[in-house]
Amino acid sequence: MSARAGSNSDASEIVFGFDELFFSRTDSSGIIQFGNSVFQRVSIYEWDELLQKPHKVIRHPDTPRGAFRLLWDSIKAGAPFGAYVKNRAKDGRFYWVFAIVTPVEGGYLSVRLRPSSDLLAVLKTEYSALAERERRENLAPVDSAALLLDRLHALGFRDYQSFMATALGRELSALDAHLGRPRYKPIEFFQRLQEAAQTLLIQAEIIADAHINNENVPLNFRVLAAQLGQEGAAIGVISANYALLTAEIQTILESFTTAAKDVFQTINEGYFLACTARVQQEVLVLFQAESAGAGAAHETSLLSHQRALYTAKAEAGLRDITRKAKHFRQACLDMERLTAALEVTRVMGKVECARHRVAQDRMDELLARLQDFQNTTAAALRKLDEINQHIASEASELLAQAKDAA
Ligand SMILES: Cc1cc2nc3c(=O)[nH]c(=O)nc-3n(C[C@H](O)[C@H](O)[C@H](O)COP(=O)(O)O)c2cc1C
Repeated sequence: MSARAGSNSDASEIVFGFDELFFSRTDSSGIIQFGNSVFQRVSIYEWDELLQKPHKVIRHPDTPRGAFRLLWDSIKAGAPFGAYVKNRAKDGRFYWVFAIVTPVEGGYLSVRLRPSSDLLAVLKTEYSALAERERRENLAPVDSAALLLDRLHALGFRDYQSFMATALGRELSALDAHLGRPRYKPIEFFQRLQEAAQTLLIQAEIIADAHINNENVPLNFRVLAAQLGQEGAAIGVISANYALLTAEIQTILESFTTAAKDVFQTINEGYFLACTARVQQEVLVLFQAESAGAGAAHETSLLSHQRALYTAKAEAGLRDITRKAKHFRQACLDMERLTAALEVTRVMGKVECARHRVAQDRMDELLARLQDFQNTTAAALRKLDEINQHIASEASELLAQAKDAA
């Protein structure tokens, strides 16, 4: 289908088909080296106005500089990047794309699709507010990038990676729906995995918060032991024991929280990679159908290589999720071991406290707080174990499906 360079309700927007994916390739400083016919048609520039020109030739001032700052930071570090971009055609009209930019031999490849999900509307509002603020306050790109991340956080995205994975998944689903195609299956899996990883992080945070609330319990015990004098010696020993255990919990809490974040991050990376491989595959098929003329064979081979690379990366991502989930399980087991040791300390404390009539209420309160911490941790750990196993098995199933499809 050809580009329908007509306009929708907004007179200055160029509308193109959902089946019209485009791509362009640049050198390492963003100078355009190649593009497919949709790219040239939608931008309305002649080839000689695009080739060997900086990609910013189609820049629209409504896409904030902060977004490009994030793009360049990411691709220069060798990582793929996805973003909504509003572009300006030669005649001044605009068009929206969701772009996936990946490092490729000698530069970067950008494959783009027409976005239409609910997130597009959200981002339009965010971009225009941020671009306006950039102009008003003369914001540096790095500050604008930080503001964009803050806004995404406020919208419920923990980081840019989780945002771009979610956005690409939703855009692909919307695209499939518009074209009357079945939904791309891995998306459902990844959406469930993302939700599970979100719960995982929340439960890990519950444990960390419970620990913070309990930090002063050993000190309070020590104070009580001192007040009891000779009689409080045993309580002093127990409180010292408890202090050692909480210090150990503090240490493993850090690696525990990191392990939970790792699972979350790996899931988002896997999600983005899987969708990227799928879009690259489609671009390749479209380009093979249109390609003729100079450079086409070289470009097909580059696209084909990129698609194979990202398919392999997506598979490696799935294996990584299983590995990270296993690692997290180990962190949960360590935490369980420590809370079991805490229980012993608590029971000993209880026996000791029963022997003392003085300050009974205060001791009961401290022991109750310990019990609360253990109950909260035990409940969170049980939930974590369940979610974590679910993540590992979903990832393995997805991997098996990917292998079958290959
Ligand atoms: C592969 C690739 C594709 C790009 N595509 C676009 C694009 O479609 N629109 C755009 O404005 N910038 C695009 N850029 C970013 C531009 O290089 C540039 O950073 C951006 O237009 C901002 O320009 P400025 O920093 O001079 O303001 C792309 C960069 C690369 C590497």
